[in-house]
Amino acid sequence: MALQEAADNLVVMRTLLVTGGAGFIGSNFVRHTLAHTDLDITVLDKLTYAGSRESLSGLPAGRCKLVVGDITDARLVDELVMTHDAVVHFAAESHNDNSLANPRPFVETNVVGTFTLLEAARKHEVRFHHISTDEVYGDLELDDPERFTEATPYNPSSPYSATKAGSDLLVRAWVRSFDVQATISNCSNNYGPFQHVEKFIPRQITQLMDGMRPRIYGEGLNVRDWIHVDDHSSAVLLIIEQGVIGETYLIGADGEKSNREVVELLLAEFGRESTDVEQVTDRAGHDMRYGIDSSKLRAELGWAPRFGNFAEGLADTVEWYRANEEWWRPNKAATEAMYARQGQWRAPRASGGHRHDRPTRLPSGHRFNRQSGGPTSPAGRPSALSVVSSDAAQSLSAEKAEDEARRSLSSWMSADISRNLSSCCRAWCAQNMSSPPPPSVTRT
Ligand code: NAD
Ligand code: DAU
Repeated sequence: MALQEAADNLVVMRTLLVTGGAGFIGSNFVRHTLAHTDLDITVLDKLTYAGSRESLSGLPAGRCKLVVGDITDARLVDELVMTHDAVVHFAAESHNDNSLANPRPFVETNVVGTFTLLEAARKHEVRFHHISTDEVYGDLELDDPERFTEATPYNPSSPYSATKAGSDLLVRAWVRSFDVQATISNCSNNYGPFQHVEKFIPRQITQLMDGMRPRIYGEGLNVRDWIHVDDHSSAVLLIIEQGVIGETYLIGADGEKSNREVVELLLAEFGRESTDVEQVTDRAGHDMRYGIDSSKLRAELGWAPRFGNFAEGLADTVEWYRANEEWWRPNKAATEAMYARQGQWRAPRASGGHRHDRPTRLPSGHRFNRQSGGPTSPAGRPSALSVVSSDAAQSLSAEKAEDEARRSLSSWMSADISRNLSSCCRAWCAQNMSSPPPPSVTRT
C-alpha cells in the first residue's frame, strides 16, 4: 500500500518548492535533485547572511529559479505553494551560537515560518517534507551505548533546537488534525561544499588556509555524528518519493567523531602538528554528543550512504574550499568579528601566560571603541594599529611592536578590508587576546 501510494506520488510530482535552497544543505539538495530527477525547482529564500545566489550558480535556468522572499510572508507563500506539487522545507536560522546571542529570528523563521508554510500546504493540499535535526532530542553522554531513534523523547537544549522541535511538533499536529500530507526527517551534522564559514568544519579549514589555528570550544571532547551533505540529499529525495505520510525518519551515516578528532584530521591534511589548536570560550549549554540510529530509513526505504569514509569526504571538502576561495572569503572576516562580538575569546592558559594573553596598550591617543570593538585613532576613526600585549610592548621597541601588530592584522585582511576595518580589528583581537578588551585602555 505504501509503495503504491509512493508510485502515485511520483506520477504527479513535477515541481518542487524548496525553501532555504540558497543555503548549505538546500543548495546541495537542489543540485542533487536536478542531477538525479526530471523535477523542476523553485527556490524560496530570503538570502539572509547564510544564503547566497552563488551557491546556485551554474544550474540550468529552465529548471531552477530563485524567488527571493520570506517564508513568514503568507501571501507570497500561498501563491508559491499553490503552484507546486510538493514543498521541501529547509529554510531556517540554523546556527546555535547565533541563537544564544539573539533567539528572536529563530522563533520567527523556524516556528512562524513553518506555521505559514503548513497553512498553505493544508489549504492547497500539497505534499510537504520538513527538514529537521537530531538536536531536537537533546544530547547523549559520551559513554551512553544508546543512540537517538524515532522514539526518543524531545529534549532540546538551545533556542535553535527548541525552535526546530517546535516546528516538528507543528508538522505532526497538522498531519493529525488537518490531514496534511507531510513527512519529517531529522538528520545529524552535515559537512561538504557550500557550508558557511561560521560552522565548525569550514571555520577550521579556512583558519588553516589562512595559516591560523583551529578554534576548539572547551576541550574538544564533544561528539557529532557527521554525514556528507550529498548523503543527506539522497535520503530526503527518497523520503519524498517513498516515505509514508505522517512518519518521521532519522538520517545518519554512523559518523561519530569528537571535535578534537576532526581537527586532528584537518591538521594532518595541512601538514600541521596535531596539538596546534586554540581553545576558545565554550558554548553555553553545549550539547555533549549526538548519535543517530538510522535503521528505520535503511530497512523500510532501502537507503544507504555513499560516503562511507569520513576522512576521504573531509579531504574532498578541504579541496573544495581550496578551489572556491572566492565563494567563502567575503564572509570570513565578518564571521570572526561576529564571534568576537558574541564574546568568544581565547581560553586563558592554566599557567605561564602567553605574550598576547594580557590586557593591551595602545599608542597614545588610540582608544578602544566598545561599539565597533576595534581600536580607534585620535580622530575617532578605526585605526590600522592593532593591539599588542604589555609584555610584548616592554620587550619590543614601540616601532617594532607596531610593525608586528600591522603584520599580524594584515593576515586577517581580506578583499573587503576597506569596507570592514573595524570588524577585522575586533576579530584580530579575539584571535590574540584571552579576554574582552576593557572599554578604554590608555597608555601608561
Ligand atoms: P543554512 O543556514 O546554511 O541555510 C538556511 C537558508 O535558509 C539560507 O539560505 C537562508 O537565507 C534561508 N532562510 C533563513 N531564514 C529565511 C526566511 N525567513 N525565509 C526564507 N529563507 C530563509 O542552513 P543549513 O545548514 O543548510 O540547514 C538547512 C536545514 O537543515 C535547516 O532546517 C536545519 O535546521 C537543518 N539541518 C541542518 C544540519 C546541518 O548540519 N547543517 C543538520 C540537520 C538538519
Ligand atoms: O546536529 C545537527 C546540527 O548540526 C544542525 O541542526 C545545525 O543546524 C548545525 O549548525 C549543526 O549544529 P552544531 O552546533 O553541532 O554545529 P557547529 O558546526 O556549530 O558545531 C559543531 C561542534 O563543533 C560543536 O560541538 C561546537 C564545536 N565548535 C564549533 C565551532 C563553530 C568548535 O569547537 N569550534 C568552533 O569554532
